[in-house]
Amino acid sequence: MSLLTPYRSRTLDLPNRIVMAPMTRLRSEPDGSPTADVADYYRQRAGAGLIVTEGMWPHSSGQSEARVPGLATDRHERSWARVVDAVQAEGGRIVAQLMHGGRKGHPAARIDGTVPAGPSAVPDGDVLHLLDDSKATWPRPAAMSIAEIEATVARYAASARRAVAAGFDGVELHGANSYLIHQFLADNTNLRDDRYGGSVANRTRFALEVVDAVTDAIGADRTALRLSPGNPQFSMIERYPAELYRGLVDELNRRGLMYLHLTDNDDYPALADLRPRFDGTVIANVGENRVPTSAPAAELALADGADLVSFGRAFIANPDLVERIRRGLPLSAVRDDVLYGRTAEGYSDYPCAAVSAGGDR
Ligand SMILES: Cc1cc2nc3c(=O)[nH]c(=O)nc-3n(C[C@H](O)[C@H](O)[C@H](O)COP(=O)(O)O)c2cc1C
Repeated sequence: MSLLTPYRSRTLDLPNRIVMAPMTRLRSEPDGSPTADVADYYRQRAGAGLIVTEGMWPHSSGQSEARVPGLATDRHERSWARVVDAVQAEGGRIVAQLMHGGRKGHPAARIDGTVPAGPSAVPDGDVLHLLDDSKATWPRPAAMSIAEIEATVARYAASARRAVAAGFDGVELHGANSYLIHQFLADNTNLRDDRYGGSVANRTRFALEVVDAVTDAIGADRTALRLSPGNPQFSMIERYPAELYRGLVDELNRRGLMYLHLTDNDDYPALADLRPRFDGTVIANVGENRVPTSAPAAELALADGADLVSFGRAFIANPDLVERIRRGLPLSAVRDDVLYGRTAEGYSDYPCAAVSAGGDR
């Protein structure tokens, strides 16, 4: 079995095991609608076994930065349908990542101008992109009320319905890398003393409520979750990831999800610890905090029990990544200076190998 071996499960039927990881690129219109360039970008990468889109906000109160796309309005839905059509016309498969910023957000970065709210009023220490193209530090968020939590859960479900209406093959809920679901899981961002804070059952409650609401809306076989257990990036602190994530994954395992997407990091070997607890499909991401995922590293993850492996940065610079791996061709490097640019430069203008290498070799 290798990265190029087709994968079939109860919920997925993929021509290879190479997944495009979700990556925010800030190329959407100010209202959060993906542009024709976005459709081009994903169409070029349709050779992936599965594409996971960049994170998109399920509701304007979840917009983390300017030009992050949304999936909350009719216009978003129509615009994403064009992206999905472009990918499917090339024979590809694509799921939408729903990414609620929670405490990550800024009135000057979002179309509705609201102050962000997270589990607790603890600010993020990092910087973000505003609508006027300047940068700022994240402001102090409000703490979500129970009514806001309930409304937010319902908004994930409404957005998931839009994803299916737009033609997506499913939805990946972003529970990783410091976004809202992760903020409920982590120690330093969740200081609540109600039923959403404290014990493992309470900290995992929000994640499971969102999973259940989305499952009710579109079916478990179209619902997936991404987790980054113990990931210390973006000022997140999780002191006991094994206890927390084992409890969460045991619950998820009962729900028959489309897949579980796990990112490994140096402090906690998520794949090794959690794979045995989950009977469904596991996508591993092994590149976080290190060099971009390479084919040999991905093959090791398959040998360690992953069913599929997601590649992030390698897919940015190599639209034909699967073909390059198949033919053993060298990979192009990402241009970091235009990761988040406004134009097609450094986005949909990376050439395929046949062009950059001057023909088939
Ligand atoms: C530019 C950029 C944007 C990213 N945006 C997201 C995102 O929207 N959602 C998410 O879950 N992860 C996001 N990530 C993390 C990637 O999905 C992936 O885990 C990370 O790049 C490590 O994989 P790699 O070494 O193969 O690049 C992003 C990473 C990069 C480089």
